[in-house]
Amino acid sequence: MTENPSMRHFDTHPARMPANTRLYGRRVLLRPLVPPDFEAWSEVRHRNHDWLTVWEPQRLAHLPDPTYVRDAFVSRCSQRDRERQNGVAYAYGLFVDGDFAGEVNLNTVHRGAFMSATIGYWIDELHAGCSYIPEGVVVLMRHSFEDLGLHRLEICIVPRNHNSRRVMDKLAIREEGVSLRFLEIDGVWEDHVRYAITAEEWEQRRDALARQWL
Ligand SMILES: CC(C)(COP(=O)(O)OP(=O)(O)OC[C@H]1O[C@@H](n2cnc3c(N)ncnc32)[C@H](O)[C@@H]1OP(=O)(O)O)[C@@H](O)C(=O)NCCC(=O)NCCS
Repeated sequence: MTENPSMRHFDTHPARMPANTRLYGRRVLLRPLVPPDFEAWSEVRHRNHDWLTVWEPQRLAHLPDPTYVRDAFVSRCSQRDRERQNGVAYAYGLFVDGDFAGEVNLNTVHRGAFMSATIGYWIDELHAGCSYIPEGVVVLMRHSFEDLGLHRLEICIVPRNHNSRRVMDKLAIREEGVSLRFLEIDGVWEDHVRYAITAEEWEQRRDALARQWL
C-alpha cells in the first residue's frame, strides 16, 4: 500500500504523543500527575505554601482549592491531560527516588511560524539546592526540541528571584532583556527577565548539556 504523506504528519504530530510520556534525567523522573498523586502533591503544596505562593499567580478564590479538594485535583489532572493531547501545554510532576518533589511545565505552546513555549518550575524546599530543577529543565528542553519539534523555549523570572535566575546561570541560558509588568505574581503585575534558547543553540550545546546533566 502506498504511504499517504498527510497521514505520516498525522501520526507524528506532537498532539498524538502518548499522554503518559515519562521523561528521565540522571536523578529525576518527569511524568504527568495522576489522581493517586493527590496526597503527596497536597502535602508538599501545604508545607511549601509560603515558599511558593510569593512566586506564583494568585489562586482564583471562587474556584475550589485543589490542595484541599480531591475532585479539584482530579479535574486539574484531566485538564492537563487534555492540554497534552491538544498539544497546547505539557505539565509534569518531578519525582526524586520515587517521591513527588515539584513540577516542571511547558506552557503556552504556539505552533505555526513561532513554534515556541514557556517553561515554568518549582521544587519542594526540602529538595532545594540539589540542582534537581536545572536537571529537569534540561530533560524538558530535550523533549521540547527533539520530540515536539519546537524552535524556541522561554523562561521568565521576576528579577529579585535570585534562586531561579541561578538556575538559568547554571544552564547558561541566554538573557534577552526585561519585560515590564509582564505577569501577575501574587497579585502584582511584575516585571520579568526573559531568558530563551532556540533549537540552533540546543543543537550546538546538547551534547555538553547531556553530559553534564542527563
Ligand atoms: C527556583 C527553584 C525552582 C530552584 O530549584 P533548585 O532545584 O533548588 O535549583 P538549584 O539547586 O540549582 O538552586 C538554585 C539556587 O537556589 C539557592 N538555594 C539552594 N537551596 C536553597 C534553600 N534551601 N533555600 C533557599 N535558597 C536555596 C542557591 O543559591 C542555589 O544556587 P547554588 O546551587 O549555586 O547554591 C526553587 O528555588 C523554587 O522552587 N523556588 C520557589 C518557587 C520559584 O521561585 N519558582 C520559579 C519561578 S520563575
